[in-house]
Amino acid sequence: MRRPLALVCTVCFLALQATLFGQLKQASPQPSSVNTLTGEQIRSKVDNLLRQMTLEEKVAQLSQLPGMDVPDFKDLMHQSGEEVLKQHGAGSMLWVSDPKEINRLQHIAVEQTRLHIPVLFGLDVIHGYHTIFPAPIAMASSWDIKLVEEAQTVAAREARAAGIHWTFAPMVDIARDARWGRMVEGAGEDPYLGAAIARAQVLGFQGTQLGAPDRVLACVKHFAGYGAADGGRDYDSSYVPEEEMWNVYLPPFKAALDAGVGSVMSAYMDLNDVPASGNPWLLHDVLHSSWDFKGFVVSDAFAVKSLVTHGYARDLQDAAHKAFTAGLTMDMASGTYLKYLPLEVQQGGISMRQIDDAVRPILETKIRMGLFEHPYTDESRLEPTLNDPAHQEVARRAVQRSVVLLRNESALLPLDKTGKTIHSIAVIGPLGDAQTDLLSMWGGAVKAGLTVSILQGIQDKVGSAAHVAFAHGPNLRRVIPSPFEGIDLLKDLKEQPEQTPQQARQAIDEAVSLARQSDVAVLVLGEIDLMSAESASRSSLKLSNGQEDLLEAVSATGKPVVLVLVNGRPLDISWAAEHVPAILEAWYPGSQGGNGIADVLFGDANPSGHLPVSWPRSTGQLPLYYNHNLTQLPETSSDFKSRYWDIKSTPLYPFGYGLSYTTFSFDNLQVTPTARAGSVVEVSADVTNTGSRAGDAVVQLYIHQRAGSASRPVRQLKGFDQIALQPGAKRTVHFTLGKDELQFWSPLEKKWVVEPEQFDVWLGGDSRADLHSEFRLTQ
Ligand code: NOJ
Repeated sequence: MRRPLALVCTVCFLALQATLFGQLKQASPQPSSVNTLTGEQIRSKVDNLLRQMTLEEKVAQLSQLPGMDVPDFKDLMHQSGEEVLKQHGAGSMLWVSDPKEINRLQHIAVEQTRLHIPVLFGLDVIHGYHTIFPAPIAMASSWDIKLVEEAQTVAAREARAAGIHWTFAPMVDIARDARWGRMVEGAGEDPYLGAAIARAQVLGFQGTQLGAPDRVLACVKHFAGYGAADGGRDYDSSYVPEEEMWNVYLPPFKAALDAGVGSVMSAYMDLNDVPASGNPWLLHDVLHSSWDFKGFVVSDAFAVKSLVTHGYARDLQDAAHKAFTAGLTMDMASGTYLKYLPLEVQQGGISMRQIDDAVRPILETKIRMGLFEHPYTDESRLEPTLNDPAHQEVARRAVQRSVVLLRNESALLPLDKTGKTIHSIAVIGPLGDAQTDLLSMWGGAVKAGLTVSILQGIQDKVGSAAHVAFAHGPNLRRVIPSPFEGIDLLKDLKEQPEQTPQQARQAIDEAVSLARQSDVAVLVLGEIDLMSAESASRSSLKLSNGQEDLLEAVSATGKPVVLVLVNGRPLDISWAAEHVPAILEAWYPGSQGGNGIADVLFGDANPSGHLPVSWPRSTGQLPLYYNHNLTQLPETSSDFKSRYWDIKSTPLYPFGYGLSYTTFSFDNLQVTPTARAGSVVEVSADVTNTGSRAGDAVVQLYIHQRAGSASRPVRQLKGFDQIALQPGAKRTVHFTLGKDELQFWSPLEKKWVVEPEQFDVWLGGDSRADLHSEFRLTQ
């Protein structure tokens, strides 16, 4: 059976990254340098090149070539990517990550091609290159914008030292349905938080200027609406009305553009029946016309060719025509542009001027990134850069700040690490000793030995003060295997071995017996990385593979239980939420996972993470999001009970929710009572640490427009801040609500409007905040 192309491409990349890590020992740094040319000089250099280029050379710049053997590419081109490179050059190459190989290919481009144009090397550096940070949904849970930027700065530094110029990140798809496997790669359900995280990531990757030293070109993806896939099924069609696109799905992309992102990746799926990679509304009307985007757009892997598979293009030439004329600049790996754009020009379907206009931003990017002056990477820089201990420090801090404490009855956490009250700890569960499974899919090629497991983190934390023992419990496997498994070079990305029901039962019995002999049980449950990723959607959020039985059996021992979740999406933990005293959402915490989690479990760090998604009670509630509209029977009405008769319709944990080892109070909300539409509304409030530990409050500001040209969401996040407070300390937080916060895209007006209406304001620690005030916008 043929594997889906999207998967093959990702697998290929991971395979190559695995090769890289086999070769790190020989590898190297050089400060990547900034070009010093003015805008005018850059334009003239581009024009000069364009004047000399043949049509084939131009089309090669519009192509991203696979840096490895990709049968589909070869079938079409009868040549490998490298052979094409030798003949005509290339805009970019991907799935090459060994610096030596990058340099070898770059020498071909620079020394053997007619015009010596260097290649942009692209790779999926999503949440770290060698130092793997918590997965994007975890980083979003930190609500810590500076930290997000810092982490991507480290990722960029490591990637650039390896010769990578371009990362396919940030992924900013809004996800309101936890069945969708790629929720893990984004910042959750909210456009405002998503926009803030997108902005921070772009700044982290690129710096404030394209071509800044030790930075890479960012690529915001997947444009757009991918997270709205029907039924949460990966690659399935999305149907999103225009107003929802503008108000919900597009804002993070716009924020990335405003932060200067240099490239955009189109999505795979059909958006409202038109594939995103050939969708003129998305690529031309929104991106180029409305937003005046000056960078370039790359397809997702093989997505140009897939326009035929979708039944949108009649053949590959038509696919090239449709994608190109819609506004898609670069064809990732399918070879369709290479093969058919020259023909299109010869036959008059596309003009040479259109080709030139498409090539321009690609050449400009290469110039701005200093590639003409410094095409090669200094291999001797790699190892010292990757081994910089400061990188691990950022990663550990990121874990501490991204885990979300969901429940902590009777202050079970933090646990005693001194041996006074806890003498023995049982670490239980199929993810308790996991290493690569803490990294999530995009960190899957890092050597297992580099990752600190939760078991290890706990052992290191308590040392000889308590005895720590481990029981694995039942193994985790998908019912339908992942296409990512079983690729030779990806031996670290694997399912756990198959067990008979008897073996699984015995594993539970062993865990129960260990719990009985211990003072406390830390259960580490969730999903192996193959369960929460691309091509990893699921129909049920239940704890799989007998993990629920394990949890209930261990709880039945009467020992205190701490549940640590390792996963990429909310899971159905309704039973645990009533019976397990402490629950910590760790997501995929990355290389420093075990250390950071132990810091939180034992109180060396106070958790401050807050959910970037509404946590459902059951799968049947999906899609679920807090910023839905009011209805004729709102949740606040006295008659309201639930929208379902079999379950409460509220989430188990609301958007923005997260506990701390201390408590905070919010009061003295001050709001400008009236302001002219177009001017600014000031909001302030006092936040006090009312507990006995220092901690960080995540202060959240929500608004609601009471009437207008459309029904507006019951609440919308429009501001947040992180405030570090000592016990008893109080601080005043300030927010401003300007045009960006108050406007919305009106379906009746078909444009952005700020309406003179009455607004509610709430401020607090999650989306149920009840400290309320209001203001009026006047004409
Ligand atoms: C497919 C994925 O959808 C995309 O996110 C990724 O960047 C490309 N493959 C390249 O590996």
